Amino acid sequence: MAGQAYIAAELFDLVREDLQRVDAEISLRSVASVEAITTISRYLQEGGGKRLRPTLLLLSSRLTGGGGDAAIRMAAVVEMLHMATLVHDDVIDVSQIRRGRPSPNVLWGNHTAVLAGDWLYMQAFQAALEERDFRILDLLIGLTQMMVEGELLQLERIGSMTITEADYMDLVDRKTASLFAACARLGAITSGAPEETETSLGGYAWNLGMAFQLVDDVLDFTARETVLGKPVGSDLREGKVTLPLIYALERADEAERRQIETVLRDGNYGRVPFSGVQAIVRRHNGIEQAIQRAEGFTQEARATISRFSSCSCQRALNRLTDLVTCRDH
Ligand code: IPE
Ligand code: IPE
Ligand code: MG
Ligand code: MG
Repeated sequence: MAGQAYIAAELFDLVREDLQRVDAEISLRSVASVEAITTISRYLQEGGGKRLRPTLLLLSSRLTGGGGDAAIRMAAVVEMLHMATLVHDDVIDVSQIRRGRPSPNVLWGNHTAVLAGDWLYMQAFQAALEERDFRILDLLIGLTQMMVEGELLQLERIGSMTITEADYMDLVDRKTASLFAACARLGAITSGAPEETETSLGGYAWNLGMAFQLVDDVLDFTARETVLGKPVGSDLREGKVTLPLIYALERADEAERRQIETVLRDGNYGRVPFSGVQAIVRRHNGIEQAIQRAEGFTQEARATISRFSSCSCQRALNRLTDLVTCRDH
């Protein structure tokens, strides 16, 4: 983990000042005439968060010769979009903790959280509009629709044990990888890079995003809540059968399947403890297999980024792949 911290420090040093500007931009743009919205935005911003998406955008922009005010503004846009999805996601998932603190739905209630999320979405779009670039709007609108469709599809599959690996990958593409890809693309667009470069960087980030969500779903089985900043075991409790469990279920016997079914039906670990679920997943190598799959995406991301000529940003994007795979939160 010390290695992880080192990689993180080295990487974020490169964008530290830019990220401070991004945060200032978000603060400036999150002021509404209704206090609840300003308070919720500030609360989320202060709660920490890895700022992975703005980092990705800034590095992609600098790699392709940009990195000016437009990149800062678009980095703020993607983090605000991300914040909006988190606020809505916690309402949908009935989650209690986000970024190590009670989530907005807990403190302000569902109604206020939904409206604050809506406002944040619109504020992000308004900031993006300042670029006067239809390609940017087109990309952001398509992306937001993808993400909403992802959340809807996930909702339809809540409680289902028959979800396949392909269904799961489709969900991850929509809810996570598409935003990562958009960040890299937007970085390239803000620096006026050729379309091929934009596509290539988008491909890198898409693979990174896939790996990121797979690891996130592994961490839900393996991490500690204090480190993760959100409760472990929440996916299954929320009715989500994710990759480690999908793999385990392929080999589970009747009794084991019944235990999983029980948790899905109850929505809690009252009758089958989480440790029991962990044991089933471990017994059938669900974690190892999911990690292997994540590494497949990471390798693809690495192969793509290694085709760019070496510079500090290129190396940072390469290191980002390690950070995503080895992370503990
Ligand atoms: C959370 O994203 C949502 C997922 C895609 C798993 P992050 O883990 O990047 O959240 P923050 O921004 O660091 O809080
Ligand atoms: C994250 O989804 C939200 C989006 C990417 C839209 P999850 O529900 O899987 O993530 P956490 O576990 O709440 O962060
Ligand atoms: Mg959630
Ligand atoms: Mg999750």
